[in-house]
Amino acid sequence: MSNKKIIVENVNAFYGAKQALFDVNLHVLEKEVTAFIGPSGCGKSTFLRCLNRMNDLIEIFSMNGSITIDGVEVNSQSLDPVELRMKVGMVFQKPNPFPKSIFENVAYGLRIHGLVSNKKELEEIVKDCLERVGLLGEIKDRLHDSAFGLSGGQQQRLCIARTIAINPEVILMDEPCSALDPIATAKIENLIGELSSKYTIIIVTHSMQQAARVSNHTAFFHLGKLVEFGKTQDIFSNPKDKKTEDYITGRIG
Ligand SMILES: Nc1ncnc2c1ncn2[C@@H]1O[C@H](COP(=O)(O)OP(=O)(O)O)[C@@H](O)[C@H]1O
Ligand SMILES: [Mg+2]
Repeated sequence: MSNKKIIVENVNAFYGAKQALFDVNLHVLEKEVTAFIGPSGCGKSTFLRCLNRMNDLIEIFSMNGSITIDGVEVNSQSLDPVELRMKVGMVFQKPNPFPKSIFENVAYGLRIHGLVSNKKELEEIVKDCLERVGLLGEIKDRLHDSAFGLSGGQQQRLCIARTIAINPEVILMDEPCSALDPIATAKIENLIGELSSKYTIIIVTHSMQQAARVSNHTAFFHLGKLVEFGKTQDIFSNPKDKKTEDYITGRIG
């Protein structure tokens, strides 16, 4: 049985007076892939951002309840959000490489966080991360060219390489394939499978097929509420809630 890496209890979230999440309770198992699914606007991204305090950047946002990662309260005053976001990395919907070279995109975090002691070590880690996302072979002659010259799928894999470079334990992915073609999507999905041996991964996805393909557990959200959470196989083959059933059979969404 895997460890409960993240435990969420009674989380309510608000944008100003508008409530976006209602009493969410959930746990995320270590080194598994957990998928968040549900119709647009149901609170998936809001909830994902609660896990590494990315909502802190939104002035009108507030939340209550408890979220612990390895037993540490995410919202505790004493927890430095920068440190939290090193441990809980994030990959976004639209690939967002820095306006730098491919090499520098991965090297950047290692340098600013002081994670390498010399140039040789830096080069080794950068290449290793690019190799692990399947990019090194494709771009080894272009390491110092701009990241913007890469295809969308390559850019997204670069963003994943940049995330794993700083040794996170949890990786949050918010619809990481929604801007990609089917071949690039398949590469990211395979990569998620490989990465899950080492990292705890949460993926928000619009695609139920994708959730079914990549995840071990699935959480279905609807109108800010967590309707159902369970083993992915059970959610898709034998949902307990009528709303879940309606969603996965295409009746709502
Ligand atoms: N920055 C924001 N300011 C105000 N309301 C927001 C903001 N972000 C999201 N919301 C609202 O919160 C609700 C949940 O949105 P979101 O978490 O983005 O849903 P999802 O990712 O499932 O599509 C929606 O009603 C959305 O309009
Ligand atoms: Mg979203």
